[in-house]
Amino acid sequence: MILAPSVLAADLGHLAEQVQAAARGGAGMVHLDVMDGRFVPNISLGPVVVEALRRCCSLPVDAHLMVERAEDFLDAFVDAGASSLSVHVEAVHHLQRAIAHLRGRGVRAGVALDPSTPIGALEEILPEVDFVLVMSVNPGFAGQSFLPGALEKIRRLKRAIDERGMSATIQVDGGVHLGNIRSVVQAGAEAIVAGHAAFANGDPEAACRALIEAAR
Ligand code: DX5
Ligand code: ZN
Repeated sequence: MILAPSVLAADLGHLAEQVQAAARGGAGMVHLDVMDGRFVPNISLGPVVVEALRRCCSLPVDAHLMVERAEDFLDAFVDAGASSLSVHVEAVHHLQRAIAHLRGRGVRAGVALDPSTPIGALEEILPEVDFVLVMSVNPGFAGQSFLPGALEKIRRLKRAIDERGMSATIQVDGGVHLGNIRSVVQAGAEAIVAGHAAFANGDPEAACRALIEAAR
């Protein structure tokens, strides 16, 4: 299990200290939530923050693009140093082209699904992606409650991947905390994003360590 703290919930005035603490606590990558105020009702962070993260910590940066026409911004995030990128099925016109482009640039390519988007939407693209990001909240904000239907969705997706002998991994994002992280991992998630649960108590090192422990 890889824990990916979302810096959206960090104290951005102390970004370097916050992610360094998360790394000491066992985080395996840093999750960057990119929002455009159109696909989601919030505006957040962009490629300059990827560059800043690369300068201040050694963890890979995972960019989650909650933006319309995400295909127009892929190169900016790769050039800034992101190691993996996910784009929303609901926000990209030519998904196969976007995924092939990312893989051609040597980064891990993921597709993200809103809670209401069925896993059937992945039917054609699944063999080509490195990971699927299952949203367990409606994207736009940190600190929302985990939607219980996500657990069954993760199980069904895991089954579909295994049955077809594919290598895509599952990332889960939204509302994960100490009390549910274990069930999310047991359902089939290999990477877990945590915003509030990683940063809200002001001690990201201890919080990340506790989340990883709770996941076992
Ligand atoms: C929501 C973002 C999430 C969010 C997670 O749109 O994609 O990554 O920051 O935060 P928590 O864990 O607090 O729900
Ligand atoms: Zn996210």
